Amino acid sequence: MADIKIAPSLLAADFSRLADEVATLGTAADLLHLDVMDGHFVPNLTFGMPVIAALRPHTTLRFDCHLMTTNPGDFIPELAEAGADLVTMHIEAVPDPRPAARLAAAHGLGFGVVVSPPTPWEALEPFVELCEMVLVMSVNPGFGGQSFIPEVLGKVESLRKLVDSQGLSTDIEIDGGISPATARSARQAGANVFVAGTAVFGRQDRSQAIEELRNVIEGQS
Ligand code: DX5
Ligand code: ZN
Repeated sequence: MADIKIAPSLLAADFSRLADEVATLGTAADLLHLDVMDGHFVPNLTFGMPVIAALRPHTTLRFDCHLMTTNPGDFIPELAEAGADLVTMHIEAVPDPRPAARLAAAHGLGFGVVVSPPTPWEALEPFVELCEMVLVMSVNPGFGGQSFIPEVLGKVESLRKLVDSQGLSTDIEIDGGISPATARSARQAGANVFVAGTAVFGRQDRSQAIEELRNVIEGQS
């Protein structure tokens, strides 16, 4: 199965000292998950391209930018300029993500689509082969620190079957309420990229928090 990747979400970091917070991850993580919210697609506002660009010199981690905005495709050129590596956008915001996938490729960005808890996985089905990653939300998007919704695991299973049966290398990411208590079931369902906000930035020792997640996911504890 695909490589395990841990993607700490900056949403749970101390926003008054973001560069220091990013530095605490060192190379223990695989990706840095950046939640861009516009106060319209979701009822919360976070940060945008200027903050992403300002953080770029402070880490070598790949930037996994999760856009929770209306018209997310419009941000692709600026995101690429800011130093993003991967952009994901919600199928609920972009029912036909093909033009955005082409634009992302033209700007050298990896592309992915996201499915919120109420939306069936089949909404992603026609687009999986365009994607470096698909993201299954395990909370309703908008806020960190929410409880994991186990009912979404069936969607992860279906996507894993689809990806494997078609011989694709698409990563399957899960986001929301991931902790040592929930990550194992997500792994068993077929996820291989694990976003963790509170479970990493809520802890004093970030490397240890990441290692604990890895151990649980790999079945060593
Ligand atoms: C929620 C965001 C998540 C969030 C996860 O809309 O997409 O990435 O930061 O936070 P935790 O891990 O605390 O649930
Ligand atoms: Zn996210």
